[in-house]
Amino acid sequence: MRAASSGLEAARAAIRDATFADEGTCLSHLADAARLKAEARDRAVGKAADLVRKVRSASSPGLMETFLSEYGLSTDEGIALMCLAEALLRVPDAETIDALIEDKIAPSDWGKHLGRSSSSLVNASTWALLVTGRVLDEPGRGLAGALNGALKRLGEPVIRAAVAEAMRRLGRQFVLGETIQSALKRAAGMEAKGYTYSYDMLGEAARTFADAERYRLAYEQAIAAIAEQANGDDPRRNPGISIKLSALHPRYESAQKESCVAALVPIVAALARQAKAGGLGLNIDAEEQDRLDLSLDVIEQVAGDPTLDDWQGFGVVVQAYGRRALPVIEWLDALSQTIGRTIMVRLVKGAYWDTEIKRAQVLGTQTFPVFTRKAGSDVSYMACARALLDKAGRLYPQFATHNAHTVAAVMEMANGEDFEFQRLHGMGEALYEVVRADTPVKCRIYAPVGAHEDLLAYLVRRLLENGANSSFANQIVNQAVPPHKVAADPFATLQKAPPVNARLRQPPDLFAPTRRNAKGWDLAEPVAFAAFDTARAPNNAKRFAAAPITVSNVAPQDPQDVANPARPSDAVGTVRNIDPDAAATVVRDGAQGVRWASPK
Ligand code: FAD
Ligand code: 2OP
Repeated sequence: MRAASSGLEAARAAIRDATFADEGTCLSHLADAARLKAEARDRAVGKAADLVRKVRSASSPGLMETFLSEYGLSTDEGIALMCLAEALLRVPDAETIDALIEDKIAPSDWGKHLGRSSSSLVNASTWALLVTGRVLDEPGRGLAGALNGALKRLGEPVIRAAVAEAMRRLGRQFVLGETIQSALKRAAGMEAKGYTYSYDMLGEAARTFADAERYRLAYEQAIAAIAEQANGDDPRRNPGISIKLSALHPRYESAQKESCVAALVPIVAALARQAKAGGLGLNIDAEEQDRLDLSLDVIEQVAGDPTLDDWQGFGVVVQAYGRRALPVIEWLDALSQTIGRTIMVRLVKGAYWDTEIKRAQVLGTQTFPVFTRKAGSDVSYMACARALLDKAGRLYPQFATHNAHTVAAVMEMANGEDFEFQRLHGMGEALYEVVRADTPVKCRIYAPVGAHEDLLAYLVRRLLENGANSSFANQIVNQAVPPHKVAADPFATLQKAPPVNARLRQPPDLFAPTRRNAKGWDLAEPVAFAAFDTARAPNNAKRFAAAPITVSNVAPQDPQDVANPARPSDAVGTVRNIDPDAAATVVRDGAQGVRWASPK
């Protein structure tokens, strides 16, 4: 392994400093960094609106986009379907399956969706859901009620099978094949049209070492099979593989940093060597923000492995919705210079937005690690795209998006650099067909491969990111949204309102105005962790003094010493308890709603 350069270290420190950067300051810097003048922005909007018109008229959008536009997450029915898709195929017993279907399907108003979609398949599904819902609905009184009850009992196995099959079909829209062999075979059609692939062996968040080994083996076997399809040793032209670090270690988390990084590096390096030997690219997908810093440790060590010299196929994903996105690109550029090889960089907006928002609120961190308005992520994407194009040669830009404006803006910025677009299997098909009809851009398809059980997390991310009515996939099929609105300029949208989304509660304000949220620290984040660690160092004077905070008039006992149970010589501080009688008083006062005389 090579020694880290000072450029790398400085870039890494900049990433850490940006974790919870002020959103407004960060976005105004990014808007400048994108260097898109008003005329270029106008041209991008014009081109994107044109693409929208062509996609709408040239072909029918994908089934998935059509489905999502009818059953987006702003409808109760869309949410019901997402819950079903997420849970149904994992439930082992018939009784719980029936209860789940009944709970999700019966109360919804499927009738209002009837006949609205341009897709006969979506309409047929609506019919099926409507009939199911009617049968399952609470039986009324009298003969009709009795009949309904009987029908329900007799029909349950049929309904169970039908709903499970519908969910399977929905899932299949996103999977290229259940095995790598069937996926490779199915890929041939699009490859003949000039597309390339990056295969994603489904599976993530391994729970046990056995799981992790199963996923590692799946990657290894897939790389061997994909390598047979390679032609020459240029990873930019060959198919490749995308892997998730969370699939390869059951404790891929910062609390286990030393052991998991040490375990992951040789595993990923071995897969990378195998990909190198086959002339393939190997890409490390980006996952949750609290794993970003950890992933960079693995990436740096694997990239620096001298057995990978001369291989230009090592790939990393950058999530533009993260406030650290641009500094990560600077760091990758420094890494590329240190190792003297090109790094492939897939730029995405980010697929875990809801999770990030909820996690920060639950933790009570000072703010979010991601942007809070979609236009913020779009503008960040533009700034990151500009940085990638500026560094093309050291970084190989891979622009992953299904959004016509994002595609048009990237094409507006590009000036002869070598880059590719990427889309997910089952999405954006019509968009790239239209783009490629006019301009010979490269496009790679990210194709999940595997069984339905492993698809759920991926499927839910697709439903969440595309079900929101602000998403491009949702708007393109909604004819009520005119093309120039679907293709709206994110810089202008961002300026129309404050950069921070006022409809989203910042973590400290989660319970406002009743009370402030408890302050939390993101211990996955090295700066916060270091502060904690320093405060807790055995020779540090910092000691905690805990005592009850209660409205009741009770006297706490004398302070008692508290030691770290894992290291008894380490004094944590003191605690003052109250006795059982006093505790009873506190509970009674709580039950009676006694309040503080003045707010604390
Ligand atoms: P758009 O509709 O333009 O954008 C939707 C995205 O905007 C959301 O996904 C979210 O990121 C962002 N957004 C939505 N609402 C808000 C808000 N209120 N505030 C801030 N941001 C918001 N994602 C990963 O995380 N890791 C990966 O490794 C990864 N690999 C991918 C590979 C490919 C080939 C593709 C096409 C996508 C990949 N994605 C990955 C998914 C990607 O992050 C996007 O979620 C998805 O492509 C939708 O973005 P869009 O530009 O197509 O659509
Ligand atoms: C995901 O798994 C595509 O990597 C992205 O959601």
